[in-house]
Amino acid sequence: MCVQPSFIIGTNNEDGSYNFAPITWVSVTSEKDNDYLLVISMFGTKRTRQNVIRTGIFSVNLVSSDMLELMDYFGTHHAKDGKKDKILYNVCRGEILDVPVLDSSRWVYECEVDKSIETG
Ligand SMILES: Cc1cc2nc3c(=O)[nH]c(=O)nc-3n(C[C@H](O)[C@H](O)[C@H](O)COP(=O)(O)O)c2cc1C
Repeated sequence: MCVQPSFIIGTNNEDGSYNFAPITWVSVTSEKDNDYLLVISMFGTKRTRQNVIRTGIFSVNLVSSDMLELMDYFGTHHAKDGKKDKILYNVCRGEILDVPVLDSSRWVYECEVDKSIETG
C-alpha cells in the first residue's frame, strides 16, 4: 500500500449530468513543453473512466477529513446503478473548463487529457 492523498474525480455524463468517484492512484510528472501533468490510474469499466476518455476533461478534487463520508459514498456506488444523489453535496462548474467541481474541496485541478495509455 502506498500512502497518498485522496482525490475525487468529477466528470460530465453523456446526458449532461455530473458524476463523482474517488480515484486515489494519482501522481504527478512534468515534461518540457507541458510542464505539469497528473498521472491517473483507472481500471475497469467505471463511468468515470468512460467519461474521461469520451470528454477529455475532468476535475480532480482533493479530499479532506470532513469529506470522508462523501468519498465513501461515491466510492461504493456506481453511476451505472443510478445517480449518486442519496447524500447532500454542492456542485459548481470549473473556472476554466466545463467540469463539475465539489464545493467542499479546498484544492481543485481542472484537467484536460494529454495522453492515455492502456496497460493491458
Ligand atoms: C478510497 C477509494 C479510492 C479509489 N481509487 C481508485 C483508483 O485510484 N482507480 C480506480 O480505477 N478506482 C478507484 N476506486 C474505485 C472507484 O471509486 C469506484 O469503482 C466507483 O464506484 C466508480 O464509480 P463510477 O462507476 O460512478 O465511476 C476507489 C474507491 C475508493 C473507495
